[in-house]
Amino acid sequence: MFYIKRCDYEAKAVILRPTFYKQEVMDTIQIKDKQFKVSIEAETIQAEVARVANEINKDLIGKNPLFLSVLNGAFMFTADLLKHITIPCEVSFVKLASYEGTSSTGTIKEMIGLNADLTGRTVVIIEDIVDTGLTMQHLLESIALHNPEKVLIASLLLKPDKLKVELDIQYVAMSIPNDFIVGYGLDYDGFGRNYPDIYTVID
Ligand code: IMP
Repeated sequence: MFYIKRCDYEAKAVILRPTFYKQEVMDTIQIKDKQFKVSIEAETIQAEVARVANEINKDLIGKNPLFLSVLNGAFMFTADLLKHITIPCEVSFVKLASYEGTSSTGTIKEMIGLNADLTGRTVVIIEDIVDTGLTMQHLLESIALHNPEKVLIASLLLKPDKLKVELDIQYVAMSIPNDFIVGYGLDYDGFGRNYPDIYTVID
């Protein structure tokens, strides 16, 4: 009896989830001094995240990857991506702390909070967005110091026209124009991370 009820519940959860997002979507949101309009709805995001997860499942069979999620922005992407990962894996979290570098290098972001041993591992960095790519470049340099076997990048979003450095990004859920966005983990001054949809600033 319990088993039947549980199945009912799970079936409903699967059917109701897209409807739930649909009901929640707002066409525009206001964060502080800026207005944003919805640009990528939750259903599209979820489909692209599942697609990326399936690619990783196929590519990394037998590799037991370590997913390294970059907080705060990648928290939603990480949670949804990992739900679709069916190969054995581990997940760990790091943060990037900004500090001023020399005048030639500008602001450097240092990786903090790493408590996993990366030696000999296949590491998949999970990022929210690659914009200029400078953050990812610093991150790759920091991770290389920990002697992984291989480092791959999975980014929810990429702004291809903003890239300033050459990066080999294996997994991108969606490429977007140069506009500033919020939602699905991304913020404007700390706000806006909570929305299941992605919003673009209105000029
Ligand atoms: P990059 O070093 O220029 O590639 O910047 C990467 C970081 O900038 C991301 O991890 C985000 O935290 C932030 N970022 C870049 N573009 C956006 C955006 O459109 N909205 C919110 N944050 C962004």
